[in-house]
Amino acid sequence: SLAGLDLLSEIKRLKEERNAVILAHYYQKPELQDLADFVGDSLDLSRKAAATDADVIAFCGVRFMAETAKILSPDKTVILPDMDAGCSLEDSCPPDQFAAFRAAHPDHIALTYINCSAEVKALSDIIVTSSSADVILSQIPLDQKIIFGPDRHLGGYLARRTGRDMLLWPGICIVHQAFSETELLKLKAQYPDAPVAAHPECPPHIVDHADLVGSTRAILDFAVASPAEVILVATEPHIIHQMEKAAPHKTFIGVPGGDGNCNCNMCPYMALNTLEKLYVSLRDLEPRIELAPDLMDKARLPLERMLEMAG
Ligand code: 13P
Ligand code: SF4
Repeated sequence: SLAGLDLLSEIKRLKEERNAVILAHYYQKPELQDLADFVGDSLDLSRKAAATDADVIAFCGVRFMAETAKILSPDKTVILPDMDAGCSLEDSCPPDQFAAFRAAHPDHIALTYINCSAEVKALSDIIVTSSSADVILSQIPLDQKIIFGPDRHLGGYLARRTGRDMLLWPGICIVHQAFSETELLKLKAQYPDAPVAAHPECPPHIVDHADLVGSTRAILDFAVASPAEVILVATEPHIIHQMEKAAPHKTFIGVPGGDGNCNCNMCPYMALNTLEKLYVSLRDLEPRIELAPDLMDKARLPLERMLEMAG
C-alpha cells in the first residue's frame, strides 16, 4: 500500500538513486510539473531527452513523447508512469494506412507531426512539432510536393499561411477539436481587451480568432509577456499552472470545450499520469518503453532531421 508514504520525498530519493531525470509536458498535473527537472513543449522535451546524461528518463507526458525520448537516447531506460497514455492523433493514423497513403504519392515527401507512432515516424522523411514546423517548411524547396500527417488542422494552418499545397492526412486531436467558438466569442465579449492564444491543433474557427498561434511554449511565452490583464487560452488548460507561476497578478482563462460544462478541453491521456504512478515507475523501472532496434533506427533519421533543421 502507498498509504503513509511521503510520495514527494520518496520520488526525490528514488530519482537520486536511479540517476533519473524527470521530464514533463505542460499538460501534466501541477504536482508533476512542479516535481520535474524540466517542463517543456514537444520540441524542447525531445532536445532534453537527446542531451541528458541521466541513466533513466521518467517521462511525464504521453507515449509518443516517451518513445521519441527512447529513440533519441536508445541506451537510456525510459519509463512512462501509465503506458495507456496515448494520443488521439496517433490513433487516427494507423501505420499500414499511412504506408498506403505514402505509396500512393511516390513523388511527395512525408513531413510528419511528432504526435504519431514510432512506426509512422519510420515511414516519414522529416518530423516537425508545432514550434518547428514553420522553420522546417521554409527550408524545403517550393516545388517539392509534401504529404502532411496526422493533424489536418496543423497541416491546414501551415498550408494557409505559407500558400503551399500539402496533401493532408485527416487526423484530429479530440481535445483541440472540442473548443467551442460560441464560448470563445462569449469570453471575447466579456473581456474585449483580452488577447487569444491558440494551439495550431485547433480548427480554423478557433485559430482565426487568435492573436497568437503557436506551440505550448509559444503560448506560455506570449501569455506571460502580454501587457494584458486577462488572456484567453485555447489549449489544454493545465499549462495555465506555469502562466500563474510566472505572472501571478494576471488572469488566464481556459477556453471551454463543448457547451462549456464539460471537461473536454482536458487531455484524457495526459491525465492518466499521477504522482502515485510516477513513484511506482521509478521504484520498479516499469512501465518501460521498449522498441525494436531497427524500428528505432528508421524513426531516428526523420527525428534527427527535425533537430538539425529546427536549429
Ligand atoms: P506542443 O509541442 O505544442 O507542446 O504540443 C504537444 C501536444 O500534444 C499538443 O496537444
Ligand atoms: Fe494528443 Fe491532443 Fe492529448 Fe496533445 S492534447 S496529447 S494531441 S490527444
